[in-house]
Amino acid sequence: MKPIEIAKNIYWVGAIDWLTRDFHGYSTERGTTYNAYLILDEKVTLIDTVKKTYIDELLHCITAIIDPKKIDYLVVNHVEPDHSGALPEIINAVTPEKVICSKMGQKALIQHFHNEDWPYHVVASGDELSLGERTLSFMETRMLHWPDSMFSYVKEEQILFSNDAFGEHLATSERFDDQVDQSVLMHEATKYYANILTLYSPLIKKLLAKVSEMQLPINMIAPDHGVVWRSNPQKIIDAYAKWCNNQGNGTVVIVYDTMWESTRKMARSIAEGLQEEGVSYTFLDLQINHRSDVMTVVLEASAVILGCPTLNNGMLPRMAGFLMYMRGLRPTNKIGACFGSYGWSGEAVGLMNDALKEMKFTMCHQGLKVQYVPREEHLAQCVELGKTIASSMKDMREGKEVKSVL
Ligand code: FEO
Repeated sequence: MKPIEIAKNIYWVGAIDWLTRDFHGYSTERGTTYNAYLILDEKVTLIDTVKKTYIDELLHCITAIIDPKKIDYLVVNHVEPDHSGALPEIINAVTPEKVICSKMGQKALIQHFHNEDWPYHVVASGDELSLGERTLSFMETRMLHWPDSMFSYVKEEQILFSNDAFGEHLATSERFDDQVDQSVLMHEATKYYANILTLYSPLIKKLLAKVSEMQLPINMIAPDHGVVWRSNPQKIIDAYAKWCNNQGNGTVVIVYDTMWESTRKMARSIAEGLQEEGVSYTFLDLQINHRSDVMTVVLEASAVILGCPTLNNGMLPRMAGFLMYMRGLRPTNKIGACFGSYGWSGEAVGLMNDALKEMKFTMCHQGLKVQYVPREEHLAQCVELGKTIASSMKDMREGKEVKSVL
């Protein structure tokens, strides 16, 4: 890939990773990009680097513009290795005057690369640094999503370099938001938020309020993954505002696993109950849906209904793994209910109930268990469960208090 000029004398110089399909447990079926940016000014500045294995692509891009040795400043907005993996080799090649990072960034860089002698230049929120014609300002964004994370902002061009925030895992030959299919772009941005940022929604809410209070003009958002938002940066800011406020979209997601079809039959009848009440739902079998795709639907759903049979006094492993994953991401403000078949002990429904209660879901049902294979009367109970979920959602939508029954 050749460098792309995103503004006068500011270049994208990253790498496109068409190959990766797994990002620490998050499925990336469209690959990803590692974005780095080069600013040509009196002080030539490189913002972020790439995953270690892509260093040749980074150097190829930089060399097409300038001798890498002419780089003065390296900005490390985020230390996770997909952005700093190439840093040691870049520092050796460039011998920069400054390695600019947050206080937590310096600590994390030392813990990753065990080098205390790099020319660290620690910045905090509000600090500014002149590059010559331009000024870079910094904003720490601790825990969005690592302690070291920060934004860098070029005042003159009003470009926000946002590291992971506002990004998406999307390998494409295009570099800008207006060049790609909008439904694909927003799907991948939703998936990114759901699987990386849901846990930090309260911090994102505060950050967006702070940015709004500062009245920071943003002409372009240049994240470290995916495309640069040049035409409509407000679109992704608005989406983050919606997601961080946990506004459900009025739909239900039924997530289940099944052993001998009984729990699937129950799931279908619950869906029938929802359909009868005119409620839209998504039906996700964990045997064929990756947990990160399930979380993408969970992010925007108003109710999450879990189904699993009992295996060895517990749950099937796919449901247990999904619950562990969802518990870490802590989605909030949702209605919940659980169901499943069992043979003789029947613990799964209780365990799923406990997990959703711990996540502070509003439980609209005590849970529905059926021994072995559901009869017509059991399936009728499942239809009723679907209607109970629909009724709770209607109450919530109308602002009535919905109390958890568990
Ligand atoms: Fe893209 Fe948190 O690294």
